[in-house]
Amino acid sequence: MKRIQLFEFEDFSWFPDWLRSALTRLIVVLLKLLGTSEVLGQLIKPVLQSQKLDTIVDLGSGAGGAMPALLAHLRKDKALENLKVRLTDLYPNQMAIQQFNSDASSGIRYHETPVDATNIASAPAGLKTMINCFHHMPPAAARQILASAQENKQPLLIYEMVDNKLPLFLWWLLLPLSLIILMLMVWVMTPFVRPLTWRQLLFTYLIPIIPVVYAWDGQASMPRIYNHQDLDLLLASLPESDYTWTKGFGNGKNGKAAGIYLLGLPKNEA
Ligand SMILES: C[S@@+](CC[C@H](N)C(=O)[O-])C[C@H]1O[C@@H](n2cnc3c(N)ncnc32)[C@H](O)[C@@H]1O
Repeated sequence: MKRIQLFEFEDFSWFPDWLRSALTRLIVVLLKLLGTSEVLGQLIKPVLQSQKLDTIVDLGSGAGGAMPALLAHLRKDKALENLKVRLTDLYPNQMAIQQFNSDASSGIRYHETPVDATNIASAPAGLKTMINCFHHMPPAAARQILASAQENKQPLLIYEMVDNKLPLFLWWLLLPLSLIILMLMVWVMTPFVRPLTWRQLLFTYLIPIIPVVYAWDGQASMPRIYNHQDLDLLLASLPESDYTWTKGFGNGKNGKAAGIYLLGLPKNEA
């Protein structure tokens, strides 16, 4: 398996919630820049229509990621104007809960108590999505999620905004430079973070804890991503069943690959 099990600060249960929220709010800015909602829209729309689903249940939602923009994008289609999104996380984001749950008309609800993505079978009905979240699962948990989705015939879309294709020695070689670039990106992206708190500003520009942690977690994410061959290894041990797995690359605006995905669907409804 190419994936390696590095640590990310945000995975530690002792990691402060406000800092985890600050990191995931920065990811929202990055996803907007990358146009991830459109990429996801192309993958998700046919699934919702073919499976006749009216709810997306997002696991590991952080600050909401691309979901609000994705919902707005998909709702432009008349057939999907009643689409709803349920956001969930092992560490629910309190600010996002306030933001989304106070507006009943938004179509977005954030589950207020922790939801562990490894418990996929107990998640509410709908298309399950794991956006930039699956790499947080060590192989045994990752395999368990896939097995459970297949066994319970749950439609599941796993998406990571980048592929894990850089050879590991190059990743180590480029690490110092990559960390500096990511820290600079945080300084540039922070004014676009919403909501922008005094803590986010203080710990970005005066005491730069956020840029340091974001840079490490961002870099560490890459070799943790399951590439297509790694996903094949996880899937190889699953029994044959009425369920299909499709792998591929997202379609970016410029026609280039934009992230990688794995889509699992019940066969008779695919
Ligand atoms: C890199 S963030 C991505 C957030 C969001 N999906 C996005 O694209 O912006 C990963 C998220 O996964 C969550 N997470 C990590 N392990 C989890 C688990 N076992 N179950 C549910 N969420 C988990 C983290 O709390 C974090 O919010």
